[in-house]
Amino acid sequence: MEKNLQAIVDHTETILSSISTRPEWEQSKASILGPNGSLTQVAKGIGSLSKEERPVFGQSLNQAKRQIESLFQSTLTKIDQHADLASLGKKFDHTLPASPNHIGGTHPLTNVRRKVVSIFRKIGFTVAEATEVETEWYCFDALNTPQDHPARDAQDTLFFPETSVWSNVSKKSKEKNILRTHTSSVQIRTLLKEPPPLRIIAPGRCFRRDTVDATHSANFHQTEGLYVDKNVNVRDLKGVLDFFLRELFGEKLETRLRPSFFPFTEPSYEVDLKAPNLGKLSDRWIEIMGCGMVDPEVLKLVELCPDKWSGFAFGIGLERISMILHGIDDIRHFYQNDQRFLSQFSNAL
Ligand code: PHE
Repeated sequence: MEKNLQAIVDHTETILSSISTRPEWEQSKASILGPNGSLTQVAKGIGSLSKEERPVFGQSLNQAKRQIESLFQSTLTKIDQHADLASLGKKFDHTLPASPNHIGGTHPLTNVRRKVVSIFRKIGFTVAEATEVETEWYCFDALNTPQDHPARDAQDTLFFPETSVWSNVSKKSKEKNILRTHTSSVQIRTLLKEPPPLRIIAPGRCFRRDTVDATHSANFHQTEGLYVDKNVNVRDLKGVLDFFLRELFGEKLETRLRPSFFPFTEPSYEVDLKAPNLGKLSDRWIEIMGCGMVDPEVLKLVELCPDKWSGFAFGIGLERISMILHGIDDIRHFYQNDQRFLSQFSNAL
């Protein structure tokens, strides 16, 4: 009998060394310690022993039972630890390189717009906005641009069909809707809404019927500027633009006003600039923007008396600023959403 007990302990050790799951463990335990298990069977043999033999055998039985139970317990602990580790998945290799961190950035045109707005904010300009859909009156007539002006040709301007309805774009009378060809229409919308003195800039998207190439795009961005007050003169215009352009392109900048023509300003100028820090474009005159004194006809059209009020206006292309600052040679890069291009300029100006 004693031998049988030892054989069961040995057998327990053998089977426990080969099991790895809880169901196997349950089954093995039942086969040894269960009601029909091998140890239980041997224990039943106690009845056939003499009175003297029984306590001795009883002791051996208890000892074998404790040994077996402790074997089962330690095997169970191992099985559970194993299951826990397996549920955690593969071992993590913390020496591997980290995956790249894709944080989005702002578009180069957004950066320019924010910079322009922040410069003008320093000298008291606020931002004005209007819709990209306009009417012929606000985009042309009110800006003293006659019916037969080439800009109004269907070759240059995108017209909406006469049946289209834009309930959020007020009309002067029954003129057609168009996509604005410049932000100068915001001058008119603002002058009709707010009494002077006023100082606004109006950044926004414009549309022209252009064939797309490296320097032309059917949609592009401008910032308009308008200053109306008493006794505003060309010196004020030059002073404001010099301040703005130096903040943008650096202190070493030179500027000049070159006579030009716009229907809504008189006199009108193109502004040229020259700076030593503009890469390929350094140290030569580059045309940057249009400007002029608000034409008295425009003031009359918005019912302001030209004897009392005067002002200046200017318009600058945001793409052009970015192209000069960063040496970008193709306007199409701005609209193709190529990460290799965009990520070079995110959050930089
Ligand atoms: N609107 C003009 C353009 O698109 C620019 C401009 C604005 C010129 C204001 C003078 C005054 O070219």
